[in-house]
Amino acid sequence: MQIIDFRSDTITKPTEPMRQAMYEAEVGDDVYREDPSVNELEAMGAEISGKEKALFVTSGSMGNLISLYINCTRGCEVLASDMAHIIHHEIGAPAAIAGVLPRGLAAPNGILSRQILEGQEKPVVYDLQRTSMVEVENTIGGLPYPVENLKGIRAYASEHDMKVHMDGARVFNASVATGVSVKEYGSYADTLTFCLSKGLGAPVGSLLCSDADFIEKALKLRKMLGGGMRQSGILAAAGIYALRHNVDRLAEDHENAQALARTISQMEWATIDLSTVVTNILFFSIRGLTPDQGVRKLAQAGILANTDYGRIRLVTNLNVSRQMTREACERIKGLKI
Ligand SMILES: Cc1ncc(COP(=O)(O)O)c(C=O)c1O
Repeated sequence: MQIIDFRSDTITKPTEPMRQAMYEAEVGDDVYREDPSVNELEAMGAEISGKEKALFVTSGSMGNLISLYINCTRGCEVLASDMAHIIHHEIGAPAAIAGVLPRGLAAPNGILSRQILEGQEKPVVYDLQRTSMVEVENTIGGLPYPVENLKGIRAYASEHDMKVHMDGARVFNASVATGVSVKEYGSYADTLTFCLSKGLGAPVGSLLCSDADFIEKALKLRKMLGGGMRQSGILAAAGIYALRHNVDRLAEDHENAQALARTISQMEWATIDLSTVVTNILFFSIRGLTPDQGVRKLAQAGILANTDYGRIRLVTNLNVSRQMTREACERIKGLKI
């Protein structure tokens, strides 16, 4: 039986043409800033995000950490959704390494708004941590951030002298789904990270985008954190390939997610909220089974899934074609619950 892997969009393997691009990459020592492929990728990142500069970092986690470290600063707090990746999936790095206290706020589907943030800032008193940053994750749980919310968050942050960081690990999914450009999303944040290694299909890496002054500091911090890579043009070439060839096709992942969601919604044993399926991530529950039991049930049918936020999670991705998605739908219909 063919295994159909919806655990994450990080499981994708580089395609033949991507590997070819990596093979042919021009390289140099990037710690000397002499790697032409890295320089090209960073210039693309700056252009796409509308920021002055971009920096190639090893991972989304490193991009988030550097942003918190520089923009939030030690002994200060960052406001984020209580579903945020920086709170749940980064091993406490904001506190452990950046010295930053993340404060998770309840928000519908994890989407913050000015109304939710209003009044959350600490008063300026010497024995209280300063609230110095707001973090938004776009997409969060597969949902793109509404522009209205971002405008309100930006205004709130500016009024309180706070920075805004956008964890745009999947900002291209948001952009393809909504038609809002990555540049526009970026305009509401001081710093924006996006991952090349998720829906875009590259094996490694993220771009951290901001103004020139921030990126100069980020370059030093990246080195401090062990992220100064040498001939990393081989990896950058995969990122360049991904940005050139794998952005528009995200629409196919979104259609596959819709197909799965529609099938699941027709199963009398399933609970799913179709309104939350907008990009490549969907959540559902199986009546009478815990999320872990549900994942095991699906695995028996050759469908790999994960659990997140107390539900079963499927993530469509570059390695799962439309045909494989149809096959997964048939297997879901055949599940004996
Ligand atoms: C929303 C979000 N932010 C950040 C990350 C971290 O990315 P990385 O795994 O490259 O560190 C992930 C990874 O899954 C993510 O989903």
